[in-house]
Amino acid sequence: MALRRRSRAVLAIGAVLMILIILHFPAPSPVIVPFIPGTVDWSKFEHFHPASSIKPLPTDRPRQLPPVQADRSLFKHSELIEQRRAAVKDEFLRSYNAYKEIAWMMDELAPLSGTGKTTFGGWAATLVDSLDTLWIMGMKKEFQEATIAISAMDFSVTKDGSINVFETTIRHLGGLLGAYDLSGEPTLLQKAKEVGEMLYVAFDTPNRLPGFWLNFEDARNGRQVAGTNDPSASPASLTLEMTRLSQLTGDPKFYDAADRVIRFLDRVQNDTLLSGMWPLTVNFQDETAQGDTFSIGALADSLYEYLPKMHALLGGVDPVYERLYLTSADVVIDNLLYRPMVPDNADVLIAGDVRVNSQGQSLNPDSQHLSCFAGGMFGLGGRLTGNDSHVEVGKKLAHGCGWAYNAFPTGVMPEIYGMIPCESAESCEWDESRWEPDGESIPKGFSHARDPRYLLRPEAIESIFIMYRITGDIGWQELAWRMFQSIVKVSRTALANAAIDDVTNPDSPKIDSMESFWLAETLKYFYLIFSPPDLISLDEYVFTTEAHPFIRVR
Ligand SMILES: *[C@@H]1O[C@H](CO)[C@@H](O)[C@H](O)[C@H]1NC(C)=O
Ligand SMILES: *[C@@H]1O[C@H](CO)[C@@H](O)[C@H](O)[C@H]1NC(C)=O
Repeated sequence: MALRRRSRAVLAIGAVLMILIILHFPAPSPVIVPFIPGTVDWSKFEHFHPASSIKPLPTDRPRQLPPVQADRSLFKHSELIEQRRAAVKDEFLRSYNAYKEIAWMMDELAPLSGTGKTTFGGWAATLVDSLDTLWIMGMKKEFQEATIAISAMDFSVTKDGSINVFETTIRHLGGLLGAYDLSGEPTLLQKAKEVGEMLYVAFDTPNRLPGFWLNFEDARNGRQVAGTNDPSASPASLTLEMTRLSQLTGDPKFYDAADRVIRFLDRVQNDTLLSGMWPLTVNFQDETAQGDTFSIGALADSLYEYLPKMHALLGGVDPVYERLYLTSADVVIDNLLYRPMVPDNADVLIAGDVRVNSQGQSLNPDSQHLSCFAGGMFGLGGRLTGNDSHVEVGKKLAHGCGWAYNAFPTGVMPEIYGMIPCESAESCEWDESRWEPDGESIPKGFSHARDPRYLLRPEAIESIFIMYRITGDIGWQELAWRMFQSIVKVSRTALANAAIDDVTNPDSPKIDSMESFWLAETLKYFYLIFSPPDLISLDEYVFTTEAHPFIRVR
């Protein structure tokens, strides 16, 4: 095993060079930020189970996919909307500045105690994740300052013995690639390649499917294996980031690595207990998928999300993504989505889970904030495949999440909750006798809020933003503005914003947590819904599951 250590001299020269360049070009003039390599060059890692062949990136001419966004003429920008956009940026600035002052280069700011946290390898997760938001919000000086700091960061040094493959891919690799696609700053691509080379080591297993963790000790000893009971979304939603890295570097091995997971999904899709979907957890080691629970929420979500998004990224040239999307979408629509019985008889949809046993299958009507991404998925998938009924399903799902936000006294929906499925989707009158809430604070229409926290999550505003861009309907902006005000009201701390304990309580205690997605996703989507539609058009970009915009091949 040859992990070459780069000499200290190279680092010292790099650092001196950087200082000279910074002195020479004071911010904010455009600077080519020097790249300072990490101590370990993972591209030299000798795999114990090397791939016998590497599949090249598709070279077919991209298909002309249908437009995602509504016609430009439908969008109107007003003074009021501009004020709302400014309010979102102000909220971002408060949190970002607090991070900068208190937790700079740490993974997260603790927004109550005013300290920093190390949660994702100690590689400045919040900063890397926020980079492209800084760019989008026009904060070029901060962007440059952050880029300089990140180019000097050593991604091969961590106190952790292992890193989470999925989280490092979506937050760090995705963050660097999104920022590169917007800015063209070469050092960001070089850093992305370093992170990608490290993550590529996780694929060094006997069947070349990655485990949940990249354990450095196991990797060095050739002891890595794929998981026998891993969340399906974890290995199955690395495709966008790995493919974009291959497209930008010209090295197809990253694409090949993630693509192998998709080939496995394709082989087993129709042989699961709910044919067409994949179970919550999967045996990636034996390559079987016999689990009995099916969900588009936690543990499975981005597996489904990435199917239409890969179709978009590749310009539709690989038919597998469209096929997997269409086949699974049918099954989700028929089995997991339900119309809830609500007091105003709103015609909305909610995503539940399905359990299969020897008696057959049953719907568990519990739903999650995480599942709220599905409105955007059906919207995007419907537009890209020309199926308007998917777009309609997406609208009802996005409305369902908006409805749930409005129903709670804080104006924010909980992490996990239950509703009451209608007997029929066509008509469903509110019947108060069927409503048996689990506690006094549960609003009408809900059976429980089993996990009443709000963790500053983005999925609801994400779908509402996508629906706004698909329709041009200002109703989505109005809904977004109410949600934004509610979230700010309950989450603002003296320093930044914090997760809260209980959305059923307007005076809810706060939690000392501000995950990096608050700046990377939630505030980005709020900002974009109040921005003109050509700022990150969905016809030019596709957002990763961490809201990093990648340029689509067209
Ligand atoms: C799975 O079934 C769908 C139709 O339900 C079909 O379109 C698809 O090709 C099948 N997949 C495989 C791998 O046979
Ligand atoms: C659109 O999607 C629905 C639901 O998945 C399906 O039943 C219908 O056949 C699709 N329509 C077209 C034109 O493909």
